[in-house]
Amino acid sequence: MIAIIGGSGLSKLSTLDIDRREVVRTPYGEPSGALQFGHICDQQTVFIARHGYGHTIPPHAVNYRANIWALKHAGAEAIISVASVGGIAERFKPGSLLVPDQIIDYTWGRKSTFFDGPDQEVVQVDFTDPYDSGLRQRILTASAKAGETIFDGGTYAATQGPRLETAAEITRLERDGADVVGMTGMPEAVLARELELPYAAILVVANHAAGRGNSEHRISMDQVDITLQKAMARVRNLLQHFCSS
Ligand code: HPA
Repeated sequence: MIAIIGGSGLSKLSTLDIDRREVVRTPYGEPSGALQFGHICDQQTVFIARHGYGHTIPPHAVNYRANIWALKHAGAEAIISVASVGGIAERFKPGSLLVPDQIIDYTWGRKSTFFDGPDQEVVQVDFTDPYDSGLRQRILTASAKAGETIFDGGTYAATQGPRLETAAEITRLERDGADVVGMTGMPEAVLARELELPYAAILVVANHAAGRGNSEHRISMDQVDITLQKAMARVRNLLQHFCSS
């Protein structure tokens, strides 16, 4: 069974034929919402909306541990994250899709490990390649089958949010080697690794990051919504082809 975590613009997965919903209790508190079980073509799928079904949970307040634990507990064997980002590198224009291959983590104060109880042994997972290469490849194959253009690779900067970045912060992230910026990629990716769940992401570029792009300096949320709506239709099409890839 594949798990899909839907981000901004994907709090409902209309291509999922839902069989049942389940509210999962976890040792880490409440997940963002009920898990929705069903299938997309022949692929057993479980879906959760990262920000809640009413989009009420901001990035820094998402209970990442509860979400990942609940998906594992429900029998998920791999996780595809769908998330929106700002484009820093020139090639990542609004509306582009990418499957990132690296992460730089700038978040702070989030509960970022399952291994921190009083009697827990210290566990340090390898995170050299934060995304699972086999799952990345399956997404890229599905995109090709779906006829959707998607970039292979890119470095994701995870910022704390919920505010957007300053122009100087984006310049710094670019100097650090980041190509796109978002607020939810961490600790989600490392928590999946800790539970040995293959994890990969489909990122949707919603806007030029602050100070990037040609004309307007301000990021228009109305424009972001329009871009996301169009791009998420392409993500749904891609996911429809995932089961046969
Ligand atoms: N910055 C951070 N996160 C984002 C952005 C952005 O510009 N766009 C969508 N998510």
